[in-house]
Amino acid sequence: MRASAPGPRRTVFWHQKGGTGKTTLAIAYAVRLAMDGHRVLLIDTDPQGTATAWGERFAARWGLVVRGACGTAIWRSLADRMPGFDHLVLDCPPTITNGTMDTLIGADHLIIPVRPALPDLWALEDVAQILADLRVGAAAPRTRVVFNQHSGEDLTPLVAVVVGLGLQALPAPIPAAPAWSALFSGGGPPSGIAALFDAASG
Ligand SMILES: Nc1ncnc2c1ncn2[C@@H]1O[C@H](COP(=O)(O)OP(=O)(O)O)[C@@H](O)[C@H]1O
Ligand SMILES: [Mg+2]
Repeated sequence: MRASAPGPRRTVFWHQKGGTGKTTLAIAYAVRLAMDGHRVLLIDTDPQGTATAWGERFAARWGLVVRGACGTAIWRSLADRMPGFDHLVLDCPPTITNGTMDTLIGADHLIIPVRPALPDLWALEDVAQILADLRVGAAAPRTRVVFNQHSGEDLTPLVAVVVGLGLQALPAPIPAAPAWSALFSGGGPPSGIAALFDAASG
């Protein structure tokens, strides 16, 4: 984690698994920040380009800027080219690359969306190992796992898995609700996004 580094707050959404809500939550989080008057750059590092495509349609509506980026040194290159933001919100592909490692090392906060299902938690094992390795070098961001697309499942055993991996889960899951998909039709951030602000505080 950047030790009391100056400059914009850097929040990364990553999991080594697809379809868990990284892009959805990153967009909603960025929009919420922009609605609160912050200057927000949403960075799309996923070659699928979903956040970029969303931005082409709706970023202006919410007063934020979206840029695609790939490779390594993304933080540094964007900070140099695009100063003046309060928040950099970064959406990742469901893979681990050198670029992903760079962005994790340079991040203040990492939010890991998981669905309340065992395959998403199995994929957390590698993630937890990577973060443990980064912690040895004091380079791990402050990390929270958030259960997303919750439909009433008992989270107790799933939270136990997260804790067993040395990770912390947010207490409030984000429910499965149409309002989240409606973001992609230009809708605003559902109220459940507030849970992420607890994750990214401090
Ligand atoms: N809380 C939610 N409720 C309902 N649908 C959701 C929710 N979170 C994500 N989705 C939907 O799930 C799908 C996958 O989400 P996405 O953000 O693209 O995942 P990822 O970026 O991790 O691959 C999308 O269609 C999205 O609209
Ligand atoms: Mg995505």
